[in-house]
Amino acid sequence: MKHSEFTLSLAKVGDAQAIANMSRELIEYGLPWRWTAPRVAASIRAPQTNVVVARIDGRVVGFAIMKYGERVAHLNLFAVAPEYRRAGVGRQLLQWLEKCAAVAGNVAIALEVRATNSGAQRFYESMGYQILVRLPGYYQGSETALRIGRRLKIERK
Ligand SMILES: CC(C)(COP(=O)(O)OP(=O)(O)OC[C@H]1O[C@@H](n2cnc3c(N)ncnc32)[C@H](O)[C@@H]1OP(=O)(O)O)[C@@H](O)C(=O)NCCC(=O)NCCS
Repeated sequence: MKHSEFTLSLAKVGDAQAIANMSRELIEYGLPWRWTAPRVAASIRAPQTNVVVARIDGRVVGFAIMKYGERVAHLNLFAVAPEYRRAGVGRQLLQWLEKCAAVAGNVAIALEVRATNSGAQRFYESMGYQILVRLPGYYQGSETALRIGRRLKIERK
């Protein structure tokens, strides 16, 4: 896949079901399904949250949900369909939101990732993120998460 084959845009409420389905299958597997379509739709409508989607021929092949804070933005949910990975889709989704977070005045980004998810950890490492703390029992009281993050460069002229 060439980069020119996918487009990035803000999600529409009509994308909520596709995003929720991807979350259940690609992120929340083995856990209760928390990011249902109504919850994703609420994020799409929320003023302090951006939901960005990557599309190919209109189909959602990747998405990222970021909530901005006073100082720290939180990446809530993020995935790329398996057949479109390792083609830069994830990098471009995250870079889009990092720029928005900086414009919103946030100085850092934080997120949690399953400790067993080594592929995603390699991805975040390649994007300049570092492990901040281990959180035993974060998922369902039984599965460990890693909180990871990176500081954003504030450009001053
Ligand atoms: C994490 C994820 C979103 C990355 O998306 P992606 O589109 O494949 O990422 P990119 O193609 O932009 O990767 C950028 C770089 O990250 C690194 N990287 C990405 N996936 C990697 C993997 N599985 N193993 C090692 N390095 C990886 C590579 O350095 C890659 O550059 P390269 O392909 O030129 O070597 C994707 O693997 C995914 O959806 N995983 C399942 C869901 C998930 O874990 N979400 C995050 C939950 S916190």
